[in-house]
Amino acid sequence: MINIAILGPGGIADDQHAPAVKFHPQTQLWSVLSRSSQRAHAFAIKHALAAKNPCFSDLDSLLADPGLEAVIIATPDRLHAEQVIACAQAGKHILLEKPMATSLKECEAMMRACEENKVVLALAYHLRWHAGHRLMASQIREGLLGTLRHFRVHWTFAAKDGSNWRSSPETGRWWSLAANGTHCLDLARWIMTPTEGEVSHSTCLISQSKFNSPHDESAIVALRFESGATAEICVSVQYQSESRIEIYGDLGEIRMEGTMGRHGMGDIFHNGKRFDFQPQNPFLGELNNFVECIQAGSKPEVGPKEGKRNVELLLNAIGQAQ
Ligand SMILES: NC(=O)c1ccc[n+]([C@@H]2O[C@H](COP(=O)([O-])OP(=O)(O)OC[C@H]3O[C@@H](n4cnc5c(N)ncnc54)[C@H](OP(=O)(O)O)[C@@H]3O)[C@@H](O)[C@H]2O)c1
Repeated sequence: MINIAILGPGGIADDQHAPAVKFHPQTQLWSVLSRSSQRAHAFAIKHALAAKNPCFSDLDSLLADPGLEAVIIATPDRLHAEQVIACAQAGKHILLEKPMATSLKECEAMMRACEENKVVLALAYHLRWHAGHRLMASQIREGLLGTLRHFRVHWTFAAKDGSNWRSSPETGRWWSLAANGTHCLDLARWIMTPTEGEVSHSTCLISQSKFNSPHDESAIVALRFESGATAEICVSVQYQSESRIEIYGDLGEIRMEGTMGRHGMGDIFHNGKRFDFQPQNPFLGELNNFVECIQAGSKPEVGPKEGKRNVELLLNAIGQAQ
């Protein structure tokens, strides 16, 4: 049994990671880090944490526990680097929420710490474990659409106000780009780069017009790959819409409606005909890959190199290099 701690018992940890760890036959929820002892206790009771003393407000004390083997980090983006480095130095394996960090320097320091301490660092891009996305990706690689020409994704939600931590420079560096855009960039590269090469050019427009946030509220990213194929990403926290992905090639198109999000559901069409897939919990797939890597000493499906490249594209999008 792999004992796993949660750092940051917030929305995604409570809603997805904790249930996935409880469901997985080889993992158990062990301890939790929160700034509030009340929140830690509530989380410990709700999710039946197994350690004798499961609640911590200090990371070093949580990491000093020899019974702890791995952590899931689900804290604001600015905290990721320091927490990953501390966990790696304590010899704990890490499943880290996206985006990896807020600068390339941080990414490099995190990679060094994980390599030196021989711990797994897996990036939580759960949309790669959406059963329909996986089926499409493998068939596209086998030539379903012929040469790929264009990838388009539109994914938005309506934030209720400007108070989200992603909107604050102390805790985030991007808003719509970190909430949704980082997933979209990951999917665009996952689908396109195996046949069309790396992103060779990118450009972006952002808007901050609804909440007057210091960070992007909407972003439109345009990418060109080495082959000349292109991609468009439109993300926003200003308005609600159903997500949509379109992939175009010489032999046709794929449309995916409502597949983005946490649930693993949605509809997929290939040249207008419904494409059937068996929905699965993407967070369980992601956790399973993490567990396999810990047990086999193998590399995660989405590792720190991918995470760093994603951060580089996020920085390009806001016109910053570091
Ligand atoms: N894979 C996905 O689809 C997905 C979806 C949502 C979020 N995420 C990622 O998961 C991470 C957490 O996001 P979330 O939406 O779960 O956020 P959230 O609900 O606000 O939870 C974040 C947690 O981090 C802790 N925290 C520590 N220092 C904090 C600070 N200075 N400000 C705010 N919170 C702080 C908080 O726990 P205490 O207050 O108890 O200390 C809080 O519960 C982010 O990296 C995000 O990008 C991923």
